[in-house]
Formats: sequence, C-alpha cells, structure tokens
Amino acid sequence: MRTSRRVRTLPEYPLAGAKETRRRLEAQGVDVIDLGAGDAGLAPPPRAVERLREVAGDTSFSRYAFQLGSPAFREAVARFMERRFGVTVDPYLEVLPLIGSKDGIAHLPFAFLDEGEVAIVPDPGYQAYVGGVVLAGGEPHAVPLRPEHDFLIPLGDVPETVAARTRLLYLNYPNNPTTAVAPDGYYREAIRFCAERGALLVHDHAYSEIAFDGYRPPSVLELDGARDVTIEFHSMSKTYNMTGWRLGWAVARPEIISALTRVKSFVDTGQYLGIQEAGVAALESWEEWVPANVAEFARRRDVAVEALCGAGFDAVRPKATMYLWIPVPRGGASATFARRALEEAGVIVLPGSALGQGGEGFFRVALTETPERLGQAADRLGRLL
Ligand SMILES: Cc1ncc(COP(=O)(O)O)c(C=O)c1O
Repeated sequence: MRTSRRVRTLPEYPLAGAKETRRRLEAQGVDVIDLGAGDAGLAPPPRAVERLREVAGDTSFSRYAFQLGSPAFREAVARFMERRFGVTVDPYLEVLPLIGSKDGIAHLPFAFLDEGEVAIVPDPGYQAYVGGVVLAGGEPHAVPLRPEHDFLIPLGDVPETVAARTRLLYLNYPNNPTTAVAPDGYYREAIRFCAERGALLVHDHAYSEIAFDGYRPPSVLELDGARDVTIEFHSMSKTYNMTGWRLGWAVARPEIISALTRVKSFVDTGQYLGIQEAGVAALESWEEWVPANVAEFARRRDVAVEALCGAGFDAVRPKATMYLWIPVPRGGASATFARRALEEAGVIVLPGSALGQGGEGFFRVALTETPERLGQAADRLGRLL
C-alpha cells in the first residue's frame, strides 16, 4: 500500500529501535549501559503514585476527560506558573492539558501552518518539531545549532525569503541535546522576530526545572510582549520522572490555546483523569521533592563529566538538562562512533546526527544511570579512543 508523501518525507525517528537492540544484546549476555533516551528510571514523587492509587477505583475518573480535562490540574498548573515564573494565567482559557508535551508540540502546526508556510526548527532538535510540521504539510527550515553561536538560532541570518513565510519558530532552552541555555536578550530578539512577521514563538520548556548551580530557567512569558506571540510547552516527564505517564500542558493567550484545543478535539479525548489528578499531587510536591531529584542529576552530571574528561573526551558541565553534548573525538561520524560504543563497549549513546544533520560531530549522553554506572560507561567509552 502506498503511503502518503508526508509520511515518506518524515526522517527516521531516533532511538526507534533502541529498546529492541538492547533486548537483543542483553539476550547475548552483554551488560548494556543505556545512555540513549532521556528516561531516567528514577521514581516519580510518592504523593503522585499514592494519589493515582487512591483514584484508580473511582469511576468518576474513568470517564472521558475531553479537552477540559481535570479542573484541579488546570488550577494546579496556573498556581505553578505563578509561583515559579510570576506568570499569571487563566486556568480555563490560557492552559491546555496535554498527553505529554509532545502531543501539543506535534499537533500545533495543524492549527497554524498552511501548505507551503515555514516553521523554523533547531537542528539538532527534538524530532517532534520536524515531524509535526511535515505531517501538517508545512515546510521545516532547519537551522544548525553551532557552538560559535552558543547553540542559539542566529535569527539575523535567516534569509528574508524564509523569514517572510515563517509562521512558527521552535525554540527549546534549556536545550536538548546541546544543553545550551538562552539569555533573556535572546528571547527578546525572538519575540521581536515573531511580532514583526506575525509568527508564533513556540517555546518547548521540557527542561525548565532541571537546572543546576542556582540557575533557574525563566519562562518566555515573563518577558514584555511575549504574550502576544508565544505558546510555551511544559512537561511532567523529566521534572517528575513521569515519562510514561504522558502529562504536560501548554500555556498561551486564549486565541492560541483555543486553536490547539480545536485540533486536539478531533484527534484525542484527553489524558486519563486519574493521571491528571496525580499530576496535581506532583505539582504540589515541587518544594519537598524536586530539589532532591535535581541534585541527583547534578551528582550524575559531575561524575560523568569528570570520568569522561579523564577518559579523553571533551565533556563540559551543562547548566541544565539531563544530558551531556560531547564532540566525537577526532571528528569522526557520530553514527559510526555510536555503533562502536554499542558493539564494542556495550554503551548506548545517541549520535548527534540522529537529531538532524546539524548534530553531526557530537554525541549525546543521557544521565539516566547511577553515578557508578556512568563512571563505568566512561571507562568503557575511553577504551574506544
Ligand atoms: C526537548 C523535548 N521536548 C519535549 C519532550 C517531550 O516530552 P513529553 O514526555 O512531555 O512528551 C522531550 C522528551 O524527550 C524533549 O526532549
């Protein structure tokens, strides 16, 4: 059966086969250290687990959530946005619960892109940006994230012929995979870029809470003029180790939220209300729980950076995220290095090229294993040099 041109245009999804590869190697007796996907294997907040247990048998939570979802979740999100960023939002008009932030990120182009219109996407970048744009019939314009630009998209370099057709600008800071963070001045420039062109600034804030050494990533919505042109996506996945629970939210002014709501009302019926209820408990446990979880990632970061540098890699300590973004030694191809890492060292890393050609020359380590295992992985990888 012939598939659609849009589906044929999609790139290969990174790590799509990683779970199978790992199973195969483990069946052969290999002790695999998996630093591929950003999925830490740590426990979610106990209060969230407990709340899910409490409501699992309550029939009222078993019904369709629809796009309204749980009013309690919407209100908890609004309280979090206020407490954490000083951003006041109407929980019913300016918040939308999502089945993981990927749901909103990938469906957004259906609401705002017409055929032939452009979305600027970071390269390397989270592949749901490109995927959503291609599936909606839009045109992704990939901009390489380079160290010489601090891994920011140099907006002044976007050709005017592209900028004039741009409807969406995807930004993600703290950034996966480069771990870069963005200064407020850069966000101001992005807001201006979008305002001048009637484009929407799409800020993917999946790593807003995983930041170290006193750094607290801001919300773009804190900045003047942002409300007019910005939608921001937040995720419970990394902050609360709830990747599989599939819960996140979007925040934007009412017209933007209602367009995304309209799209989603034709493709899903909302996340299970019990999970949204557990999400309330997670959000409310921020103070007592998140700092210790972030400290665990900081510990892993420090051990991994030191061990990898000791093993001969040029690893830098990131200010945020759960990743390290490391140049492939001696400038080899990232896919070749990742294949050798797996086959000769039993370590899964993500080749930079899996997240776009702009990622070539780097590989990504996810801080998903214990400090001890990260140290072992560094030793094994060092033997490849
Ligand atoms: C940059 C970025 N955005 C969004 C997501 C998706 O998160 P969620 O689990 O909320 O869909 C991820 C997950 O890896 C990510 O790395």
